[in-house]
Amino acid sequence: MAARYAAQNPNVSVAVISKLYPTRSHTGAAQGGVGAALGNVSEDHASWHAFDTIKGGDYLADQDVAEMFAVEVIEAVYELEHMGLPFSRTPDGKIAQRKFGGHTRDFGKSAVERACYAADRTGHMILQTLYQQSIKDDVAFFNEFYVLDMIMEGGACVGVVAYDLATGELHTFHAKATVIATGGNGRIFRVTSNAHALTGDLMSIAYRRGIPIEDPEFYQFHPTGLYKLGVLLTEGARGEGAILRNADGERFMERYAPTIKDLAPRDMISRAMYLEIREGRGAGPDKDYIYLDLTHIDAHIIEERLPDITEFSRIYLGVDPVKEMVPIQPTAHYAMGGIPTTIDTNVISDGRNTIVPGLYAAGEVACASLHGANRLGTNSLGDLIVFGRKAGVAAAAYAAGSDFGPLPTDNQDVAREMLASIRSGPRTERVAHLRRELQDSMQDNASVFRTRELLEKQVGVLADIKSRLPHIGCEDPGEQYNTELMEAVELGFLYDNAEQLVFAALNRTESRGAHSREDYRERDDDEWLKHSLVYKDGDGVRIDYKPVTLGYYEPKPRTY
Ligand code: FUM
Repeated sequence: MAARYAAQNPNVSVAVISKLYPTRSHTGAAQGGVGAALGNVSEDHASWHAFDTIKGGDYLADQDVAEMFAVEVIEAVYELEHMGLPFSRTPDGKIAQRKFGGHTRDFGKSAVERACYAADRTGHMILQTLYQQSIKDDVAFFNEFYVLDMIMEGGACVGVVAYDLATGELHTFHAKATVIATGGNGRIFRVTSNAHALTGDLMSIAYRRGIPIEDPEFYQFHPTGLYKLGVLLTEGARGEGAILRNADGERFMERYAPTIKDLAPRDMISRAMYLEIREGRGAGPDKDYIYLDLTHIDAHIIEERLPDITEFSRIYLGVDPVKEMVPIQPTAHYAMGGIPTTIDTNVISDGRNTIVPGLYAAGEVACASLHGANRLGTNSLGDLIVFGRKAGVAAAAYAAGSDFGPLPTDNQDVAREMLASIRSGPRTERVAHLRRELQDSMQDNASVFRTRELLEKQVGVLADIKSRLPHIGCEDPGEQYNTELMEAVELGFLYDNAEQLVFAALNRTESRGAHSREDYRERDDDEWLKHSLVYKDGDGVRIDYKPVTLGYYEPKPRTY
């Protein structure tokens, strides 16, 4: 989206540097819809959407951002339609909309159809549409290029250094403006909906370059991942009427969220599922999963509106959702935090909103902060079309009006040294083992429920992993397609992302949104209605704060 909009400016040339082939990017895995108050199925308003986003985020969202977003996402959806995105349709030919978690009519009265969808392939369709449009607009693509460093000069970003997987060569991209739109870091956990590539590379690189990470403690677990595998089963299934049941067949969400039940926000549902399991009402031989029940929904609706998840369930678990309940568990899904930006996508370097010249960020990697402490389903696709568009327009305008910043002659040194030290490592530790230890321990100690004891334990695990990182190495001496070398690089990035999350989670002594401390069960607005900013500080971590922008809605207790 950023590339496409930057390319409309006749005074700039635009390149996309992508770790994957662009159509394999993780946006393609987003299923159920993009939320926008079109009102095609029932009455809806941007103000209702903004309120739901703020309340869903447990009042940590910046309210001016949510208000702007709820208005601009409507236009952005129509733009996608005009670019040719094949949305599903209502009988009278409008963009089809379905219910989704936390999206309500009239400030919380009941669930509303706000998610604009293309079956359960909405993200896939957005990705294909935007890629085709970008090709048409002559955007240059550098595919399978791994960014290893940002080039900072005089406090400004003047480009990036990237590794070409096909050749093993390092390339310097000297840029007047750079947009970071590299997605999330779900691979820090064992069970995740995120693809292998989601290792938080740019969150780590920015952190190493002195830019803080905002609110990393708020990590979302999506309630409906396929049991043990974590593969996403869209919330759109519940939007179409699917029900969560425990081992007794009980629709337990009636107890936790009496008004909107299975369409409560994700943080609440994931916690409820864990509580059901903890209290012995989990299903299966180990009583460790919950059921997603679609069996009461017409087979043709399931096949027509939810074809992908139906196939995933049949293929991966051998369970036919038309006839049987599907075993599910919460799956690590989305980082609410990220590289801090202004409402206009400029990256900022501190709590006083100091702008980093030439640097923009959008999508999951960024934190504007639209989602606060818990993102509503469908607001991720909305986020990336609204903020992607803003970033593209702003970066192009900045580039068109400025000269190239000076390029340091040693701009490749950091990347070169990183690769050399991995290649010359002793290989007494294996990347796959360390990665598994990191993911397992993060899942056990820093996921849905947290305590000081668990988080301190995880600080110890991280210290141990950090001390062992220099002992990895790379058996493959080759230059071409050296994925082993890149996995070692990614392990370092994963470590940084885990460190940011754990230290911020330990520091925040309250429960809010997706950050649930069993030793501090209440939300504490007096002390904690503020954003965390986590800085790398030598070998350690420093935490600072940034105020939350209020002004539209007084923080209230969250009930559904
Ligand atoms: O459930 C889903 O389709 C996921 C959507 C989202 O994360 O926004």
